[in-house]
Amino acid sequence: MKVLIATQKPFSAAAVAGIKEIVTGAGHEFAALEKYADASELIAAVADVDALIIRSDKVTAEVLDAAKNLKIVVRAGAGFDNVDLAAATAHNVVVMNTPGQNSNAVAELAVAMMIFMARTQFTPATGSEVQGKRLGIQAFGNVGRLVGAKAKALGMEVYALDPFLKPEQIEAGGAKPVSDLNELYSGSDFVSIHIPALPSTIKSIGYDLITRMPKGACLVNTARKEVIDEEGLEKALEERPDLKYVTDVMPDNYETLREKFGLRVFATPKKMGAQTAEANMNAGLAAARQICDFFATGNTRFQVNK
Ligand code: 3PG
Repeated sequence: MKVLIATQKPFSAAAVAGIKEIVTGAGHEFAALEKYADASELIAAVADVDALIIRSDKVTAEVLDAAKNLKIVVRAGAGFDNVDLAAATAHNVVVMNTPGQNSNAVAELAVAMMIFMARTQFTPATGSEVQGKRLGIQAFGNVGRLVGAKAKALGMEVYALDPFLKPEQIEAGGAKPVSDLNELYSGSDFVSIHIPALPSTIKSIGYDLITRMPKGACLVNTARKEVIDEEGLEKALEERPDLKYVTDVMPDNYETLREKFGLRVFATPKKMGAQTAEANMNAGLAAARQICDFFATGNTRFQVNK
């Protein structure tokens, strides 16, 4: 079988070497397409591949149409909103993710972003401390739980909301459960977002929720830019000069936000939450192993298009 790793934002060389070793060790052929500039390069590269490893790379119906031999796509990471699942299913292609493998990297970044904003983006202006502040975690999955544990170690009060968890499960994960989004936003000095981009969550965080946050609060988004209603965010920041927004997924209106609100907003130039040596290794090798296991035994444990 031919396994292609296609990553516009490449993994570390060590992770790529590890992926190659696993793939070739299992008797498969390995190929790599890194830092490609255009979807047409991906479309050309998938023509003869049986398996595909990607990150945030877009696997559209067009890519799937071009990949006549494709049997499996593994998104080395958590979110799979970049894969057209319906088209994959129609093409009989199994899609998997590698849940948990890059969570710690993202959680560390979320915590770092809170401190960065509390300390006025590391400028000499008087900032504040996170100790004693309230953190609301929106979705208490792999990343959310790790953010909560790290925040508790910093002396923060941690609250969480997750529609798929019972209050006692949130308590077992070390956070205090809240009953709805209004309570989460109105009672948190920081809200850290960890929801996926789904039709039901896209643009779900906007003016109404953001303006519920208490004085001086900061919204932290290491999830997806699509979940924010950017016009609502802009309006909220305009009306409430005490609020702040920090994100690893740059909004389309970032230039405007930065011009208008200066150090109250910050976005990383390129999504970097999962960009650590450890996360590259964990997610990359897990993807390679899942593909080899799928070909050897038919294991579909992490399939997301069932
Ligand atoms: C994920 O969903 O796993 C993260 O957003 C990481 O995405 P990346 O692999 O493109 O950095």
